[in-house]
Amino acid sequence: MRRKFIAGNWKMNKTNQEAIELVEGLVKELSGIDSVDIVVCPPFTALSDVKDVIDGSNIALGAQNMYFKEKGAFTGEISPLMLKDIGCEYVILGHSERRGIFGEKSDLIEKKVISAFDHGLTPILCVGETLSEREAGDTFKVVEGELRNELKSLSKEQMKKVVIAYEPIWAIGTGKSATSSDAKEVIDFIRKILADMFDDNVKDAVRILYGGSVKPDNISSFMKEETIDGALVGGASLKVDSFSAIVKGAL
Ligand code: PGA
Repeated sequence: MRRKFIAGNWKMNKTNQEAIELVEGLVKELSGIDSVDIVVCPPFTALSDVKDVIDGSNIALGAQNMYFKEKGAFTGEISPLMLKDIGCEYVILGHSERRGIFGEKSDLIEKKVISAFDHGLTPILCVGETLSEREAGDTFKVVEGELRNELKSLSKEQMKKVVIAYEPIWAIGTGKSATSSDAKEVIDFIRKILADMFDDNVKDAVRILYGGSVKPDNISSFMKEETIDGALVGGASLKVDSFSAIVKGAL
């Protein structure tokens, strides 16, 4: 039985004071929920303050990105050691905004995935196709390429811990979510590739989320699909009411 998983990706939003207010509200609203893994991923600058607020609660901390090296001359980057030291358990890797806006390629993302494991962080790996790739019928090809290139060096035991987020890029921040059957189709395909790359135990153990315009009013349509284990939430994770409603909608 896979545990449900709801993560909020705050992206480049929230000053520290705003971050503290948001997470204080979440701690209050979500206390007592123990059947879903709840993760918040604030910007780097707010990680430490948010960690202080969630300490001892049922909310875990994730970062939105990292570099794969531990330290050195990499101006502007953040290392896995720093994230671990601050109390992060998770790190989002390969988000489509990192790939699309900042030019991250599969070989770099693969190094980050390996480095996350080397430092005791669990990667939330995002995969997904653009609208033009979908229209060209390339969705499966794109997603398969990302999975095979970025997860190929992991052991089966490591792979079982990875959280994958299927995020069709055309659904991110657009208000236009995929239908639950679109999401199910690709997520079932992801499980098939994992079975081929690893084995059936891995296929059945990995948690796979849907992401892209998830809102309180559509979360239940995704959660009713047995193969979808939760959601990676962007815009709707920025308010106490909407993120709490999504978590509760996943119970
Ligand atoms: P969205 O973002 O919920 O605002 O569409 C999702 C994401 O980018 O993870």
